[in-house]
Amino acid sequence: MSSSYPEHIAIIMDGNGRWAKQRNLSRSKGHKEGVKTTKKIIEYSAKIDIKYLTLYAFSAENWKRPRREVSFLMNLFNSTIDRELDDLIEKNVKVKFIGRREGLGGSIRRRIENAEKKTKDGKKLVLTVALNYGGRKEIVDAVKNLIKDEISAEQIDEETFSKYLYTSGTPDPDLVIRTSGEYRISNYLLWQIAYSELYITDVLWPDFDEKELDRAIKDYKSRNRRFGSIN
Ligand code: FPP
Repeated sequence: MSSSYPEHIAIIMDGNGRWAKQRNLSRSKGHKEGVKTTKKIIEYSAKIDIKYLTLYAFSAENWKRPRREVSFLMNLFNSTIDRELDDLIEKNVKVKFIGRREGLGGSIRRRIENAEKKTKDGKKLVLTVALNYGGRKEIVDAVKNLIKDEISAEQIDEETFSKYLYTSGTPDPDLVIRTSGEYRISNYLLWQIAYSELYITDVLWPDFDEKELDRAIKDYKSRNRRFGSIN
């Protein structure tokens, strides 16, 4: 039995730094190139009827990078939102952000809130951007909120728990893609990827494109998803 088209694709966009290094360029240049790929992949996903696309932009662990790189990335996220928001609205994309907001600076938080508000009626594609995101922190936050809401042990099941995650309302990813050849999950969507298919490519994020996404989807379609059963 082959799988049908993936409804939700989650991507670990990795390899901007290596792409730049191979060309003797600064890491910043690699990230700028990475943004171009991101735009291409968002547009293409909408075009081919992917319903949910979730992108790992900045992990809760990425603060360990040099201060200069972190501030470059935050400025890049800000300027990308400023530049792309109208286009996303026009393309009927609904944008959501997951991750701990309180760790982010005021200027980026304002942009995130504004982008979510302005795109809330988007119907074509739900684009979730993980920013200051950590899968374990998400689970800890869910537990804290269950306790705050005085949900009893008897009431807690997988469905209830899922509703307390940042991704509440979004189906679990069918396919997780990681670029640049690393075989790890890096604290990404730990709960949600329980049954996701994994696709890892050596292609670095700035070199990833529509053809590479097609390749990943083709591979996904050839998989036999059993969800624990035997057929
Ligand atoms: C991975 O490359 C990329 C990141 C840490 C995040 C930045 C992502 C972008 C700039 C893409 C655009 C995203 C949005 C939402 C506008 P790396 O630095 O980990 O590469 P390396 O592992 O080769 O050093």
